[in-house]
Amino acid sequence: MSIPVAKQYILDFEQMGLGMFIHWGLYSQLGRGEWVLFNEKLDINEYKKLADTFTAEDFDAEEIARTAKAAGCKYITLTTRHHEGFSLYDTCGLNEFDAPHTPAGRDLIREFVDACNKYGLMPMFYHTTLDWYNKDFDENFDEYLEYLRKSVETLCKNYGKIGGLWFDGNWSKPDSDWKVDELYATIRKYQPEAMIINNTGLEHRGDVGNLEVDSVTFEQGKPTPMNREGMPKYLAAEMCHTLNDHWGIGYDDLCYKSPTELIQSLCDCRKVGANYLLNIGPEAQGKVNNYQKELLGLLGRWMELFGEAIYNGRPCGVGGIGNNFGLKSTDGKSLYLFVYDLAIKGDDNVTVDGKYSGAYAFGGVKDEIISVKWMDNDEELSFVQGDDMLAVNFTGQPYGKSYPVRVAKAVIK
Ligand code: GLC
Repeated sequence: MSIPVAKQYILDFEQMGLGMFIHWGLYSQLGRGEWVLFNEKLDINEYKKLADTFTAEDFDAEEIARTAKAAGCKYITLTTRHHEGFSLYDTCGLNEFDAPHTPAGRDLIREFVDACNKYGLMPMFYHTTLDWYNKDFDENFDEYLEYLRKSVETLCKNYGKIGGLWFDGNWSKPDSDWKVDELYATIRKYQPEAMIINNTGLEHRGDVGNLEVDSVTFEQGKPTPMNREGMPKYLAAEMCHTLNDHWGIGYDDLCYKSPTELIQSLCDCRKVGANYLLNIGPEAQGKVNNYQKELLGLLGRWMELFGEAIYNGRPCGVGGIGNNFGLKSTDGKSLYLFVYDLAIKGDDNVTVDGKYSGAYAFGGVKDEIISVKWMDNDEELSFVQGDDMLAVNFTGQPYGKSYPVRVAKAVIK
């Protein structure tokens, strides 16, 4: 059994490593998450009125693209339509529950795609398959599927080259025939190299679906290594996380993750070759609040120093103590050593115990190493090698700095 050869666009997706997820819709005006309509059993006719107050006046796609870029993201996956059924794009007459028919009066997906293109980011479209607005979803499923297919066709036809479609909701009717072959064929017709992703949900993280699907998903999880031996197709993997506990903004959700958690989760993803898709939830009219921006800014600071290892590193069977691990660069010339919880090297009166520095070994190193340096300051590290083992003398973090994960780059002979 062998590992299937990967298509180039799937390898390109893996190379991007880090993406920004955006959940924004009418629900953002209520600020209690994107499931508010369903969870609070709101009356759909009342809920629909949120379209009358949707101005999108604070939605600045270019500013969002700059924020994503500064964080080190290479792509953005935006909710073109979520379960509430409202479209941020011009549905071109499929219905009037879309952004052009609100006071916003704009096609927000057009603005999003233009901004991504301007800043060299890949635009990706999240699209719901579960729909609480369209009655056909419950009453005439075949009719609904045709509406869904045409909606997706509109997105594939009108915005130039897109990076992919990210579907979500098939888990809501697990026993129904979703006619995914027709849906996916529509995408392939216009966007042959688009990533097709279909979220398998919290209960089925990492599950493999239809053959046209290009990546497995790990919603709110920790990605596990994929065994690709004997698979009919090479699949990428992607884990998505909220910044706090909601996708759509929750004004009273104060449980934000720390930069340490974000950086370590990103590294955990790359350890198994998965991408990390990190969500933001803009406010009512599209503003991204400062706290979310600031968190992404700190992640970006880390990416400036260590991003090369995130983009170019791939799993190669190198492991260390605790969470530590190694990745090999795609050109085979470097080994990146990821070191968690490293102590600060300073005066005993200011450094706290519990973290470490010193000599630590990595197993599974088959290549001969000629030098090892910290990536952030180029400090040369001493090492010894033998029997697939590489032991590096990891100096502590220089006083004045502290990285949740610090990466050393080893040069392979
Ligand atoms: C879920 C939720 C949803 C969210 C998504 C992101 O399946 O239904 O609201 O968009 O996961 O992964």
